[in-house]
Amino acid sequence: MCGIVGAASRRNVVPVLIEGIRRLEYRGYDSSGLCVIDGGERPALERCVSVARVADLARQADACGLTGTVGISHTRWATHGAPTEDNAHPHTSHGEVAVVHNGIIENFEALRDELAAAGYAFRTQTDTEVIAHLVHREWHAPGGGDLFRAVQSATARFKGAYAIAVISTLEPGRIVGARAGSPLVVGLGEDDHYLASDAAALLPVTRRVVYLEEGDIADVRRERYTIFDARGEPADRPTTIVEAAGGQAELGPYRHFMQKEIFEQPRAVSDTLEGVTGIDAALFGPAAHEVLGRVDSVLVLACGTSYYAGSVARYWIEALAGIPCHVEIASEYRYRESVPDPNALVLVISQSGETADTLAALKHAQELGHRHTLAICNVPTSTMVRQTALVYLTRAGIEVGVASTKAFTTQLTALFLLACTLAKLRGRLTAEQEAYWLRGLRHLPAALQAALALEPAIIAWSEKFARKQHALFLGRGQHYPIALEGALKLKEISYIHAEAYPAGELKHGPLALVDRDMPVVAIAPNDALLEKLKSNLQEVRARGGELYVVADLDSHIAAGDGIHVIRLPEHAGLLSPIVHVVPLQLLAYHAAVIRGTDVDKPRNLAKSVTVE
Ligand code: M6R
Repeated sequence: MCGIVGAASRRNVVPVLIEGIRRLEYRGYDSSGLCVIDGGERPALERCVSVARVADLARQADACGLTGTVGISHTRWATHGAPTEDNAHPHTSHGEVAVVHNGIIENFEALRDELAAAGYAFRTQTDTEVIAHLVHREWHAPGGGDLFRAVQSATARFKGAYAIAVISTLEPGRIVGARAGSPLVVGLGEDDHYLASDAAALLPVTRRVVYLEEGDIADVRRERYTIFDARGEPADRPTTIVEAAGGQAELGPYRHFMQKEIFEQPRAVSDTLEGVTGIDAALFGPAAHEVLGRVDSVLVLACGTSYYAGSVARYWIEALAGIPCHVEIASEYRYRESVPDPNALVLVISQSGETADTLAALKHAQELGHRHTLAICNVPTSTMVRQTALVYLTRAGIEVGVASTKAFTTQLTALFLLACTLAKLRGRLTAEQEAYWLRGLRHLPAALQAALALEPAIIAWSEKFARKQHALFLGRGQHYPIALEGALKLKEISYIHAEAYPAGELKHGPLALVDRDMPVVAIAPNDALLEKLKSNLQEVRARGGELYVVADLDSHIAAGDGIHVIRLPEHAGLLSPIVHVVPLQLLAYHAAVIRGTDVDKPRNLAKSVTVE
């Protein structure tokens, strides 16, 4: 993943470089670093890195009085090599070239061998160091002497996905940026220009940005910039004015962003439903009526929590609209030989809209001939939103915590609208049913609020969970993906190993794990499968397993020895997964707090997964 920033200005760019990567920490936070060109008669690269967070880098830069008018910075999610100071970006070559990189150079070993044979010494385990040396070699090659051309020649050798920014003491006023598979924007200032992985990094200095397209290389200087396309031709890319983020990224009275975001869900769902006065295809874009009316199936492509949102939607789409819905993990779909259905709707779901696996799966589907594409996404300026024909924007607001919470419930809200829309276009939704589901949707914020009010009971549960090493989550039907999501939340932030099963599968293997040390969380809404689920719970209890049941008020499950029950005030019918996930989010959150983990930035993870 990683986040990169570059800046060329008349003034000292160190504060911009640091604030930029602080805003990009969602892309990784294993280490951070920056490099500026110290002006004067003999320009030199000044490099500063930290294996702590960006705040520590800022302290270090301040302590050594680092300044420069051109520079690059980086926040790292480690791929090649441990998060050490040596492996921290920027990487340099001969004190003349410095590079920051997001992505993976897949053929770096062959390039490293070639460069080593040419006399280049390697001091890191990263794939990035080959970029610095290759640019250096190209600059000094016969006919070289130009940083843009050196980057152009170097990138022509790369296999893989990358966004890079390169500076050099040989041409101190210049930053060259290139993208292939990883995002990069040019920021337009008054008398300064920037590069960044995400426009959000540049908001303190500019809202005017130009998105680079695949294969583009940008030549950026303080007073101007030029973009060339993959063929080396000058390219005219449009300028976009990005929305300022507002105050949403402030923590307020909460201890962690995850907690804040869990509690924001009533507002986020309500905002996602803003303007929805009826079930209407136009909600998904001007061309949606024709497309959604014509498609004969839905293929969902997504990762992680977004994949679980899609997995819930499968139940809704098949039950309401009566068309097949297949849900695929994006990273698997893109590499398997699938049989394309040209009349399918390809639905990509993503909080960030930058998840490399999902973007690649979308591209793969398009290459297979899929034309009907829809994105459900939380970031209006994201790559994904620009690459599908139809879009529904969730309005969760910025989600800072790595663990996705409000993005999930708003995705589910949008997906339910989609299922109803597909149903209506097929004559499967009566006016009474439409009114009924609209009432249910509008009631969601209140139902979520009621679920949040259960926090004290969940805290009591989490005190027991925090001492455990493993947990099982059970659900049935449309609540099986909710069990999966509950297990993902718990392992992601508390580091407790958790697995989820459809409760009927228990006897086919996982029941062997059940003993008094294995807490078993069951999602038990009062739906058609409740009696079946109760039998499964008896099987757990008979083996000494301790049960933690998230029930509805009328689920008729009594608390007792080894059975803990919390009750959601009412049954939300088909919309129940949106409400039942809340206690599981709170359970994971409080277990993590008790265990003292870094809740918002759990180890080894990143908010936006922009590498394969
Ligand atoms: O931005 P996306 O929704 O595409 O991200 C997909 C997953 O990386 C994400 O949901 C991940 O699983 C979360 N950390 C889960 O909490």
